[in-house]
Amino acid sequence: MSRHAVITVRVPAKVNVQLGVGGLRPDGFHDLANVFFAVALGDLVTARQGAGVKLTCEGPGSDQVPLDDSNLAARAAYALAAHHGIEANVALHIEKAIPVAGGMAGGSADGAAALVACDALWELGTPTEVLHELAAELGSDVPFALLGGVALGRDRGETLSPLPVPGTFQWIFAVADGGLSTPAVFRECDRLRAEAGTGHTSEQVTTPDADPALLAALAAGDPKALAAALTNDLQPAAVSLRPSLAETLRVGTAAGALAALVSGSGPTTAFLAQDAESAESVARALRESGTCRAAHVTYGPVPGAAVLADWPGARLPAGVSCDGYRNCAENEPRSQ
Ligand code: C5P
Repeated sequence: MSRHAVITVRVPAKVNVQLGVGGLRPDGFHDLANVFFAVALGDLVTARQGAGVKLTCEGPGSDQVPLDDSNLAARAAYALAAHHGIEANVALHIEKAIPVAGGMAGGSADGAAALVACDALWELGTPTEVLHELAAELGSDVPFALLGGVALGRDRGETLSPLPVPGTFQWIFAVADGGLSTPAVFRECDRLRAEAGTGHTSEQVTTPDADPALLAALAAGDPKALAAALTNDLQPAAVSLRPSLAETLRVGTAAGALAALVSGSGPTTAFLAQDAESAESVARALRESGTCRAAHVTYGPVPGAAVLADWPGARLPAGVSCDGYRNCAENEPRSQ
């Protein structure tokens, strides 16, 4: 029996500050130049002893979250148990703040959090490299949710090189009604490329590289330079499938955002602000516009999946910083 009755893990969402998409590979994936950036809009995953793997979920969009063995959190628990040759016995509770099917890797985040939570609950002490390998098998974005910070992801996004970034950037995320399927957005990207006559296979499309201007902006901690370098090759596909996103992007830019882009495969949209005050006024304009369901002000980079506090059932009091997140109270799951 574990010394820990309850383990809570906080895990960040991501935005891609560059999402360069190469051609479609024979295995159905696309090679990427993917610069991940972890933001403090995060989920909490709590693990308790249980019989078999049981999942529960609360928070916005939780009715859309599968509670069966297809959920990445459940798959993570089984994968970790199988690696150690033990039975998977855990009750996992997910408190969602990351938009569901929103292009912010919320499902991947829960998978990463479940790996960390079960590893602590079952007292396995799994080496980081092994957790990373298990994460990469679960999905392309899961390793980054473990790592956090800012990182360049190559191949299908799972081969990571950390990028040191000084300071903090202010972000606003506008949540759209409903989600978009990541495979559907990649397919639409391929379709648009074929339609434009540029080709869409890995033989026809050169794999993009990380943009040197973007890397310099990150290394300098310069929001204006970062704003000028933000790109997402999936944006035309996401807007093609959800044309109303163009208006959300326009509203945020008109309200003073330094830049606006679709987050990953969407439909969440991301806005970079000069400072916290400007971020609040962009969020207000987005909420008042009626072009989104909610607008969250947040910041990054923040660390990856980590045990919130290492005593049983502990929750840090509001306002106390934890694991490098500047202020846990700012990121309560149901905040807007
Ligand atoms: O790796 P993950 O399961 O998150 O990927 C979901 C889907 O997104 C893949 O099945 C594929 O259709 C698409 N994808 C892709 N290229 C990537 C990552 C994901 O085409 N590099």
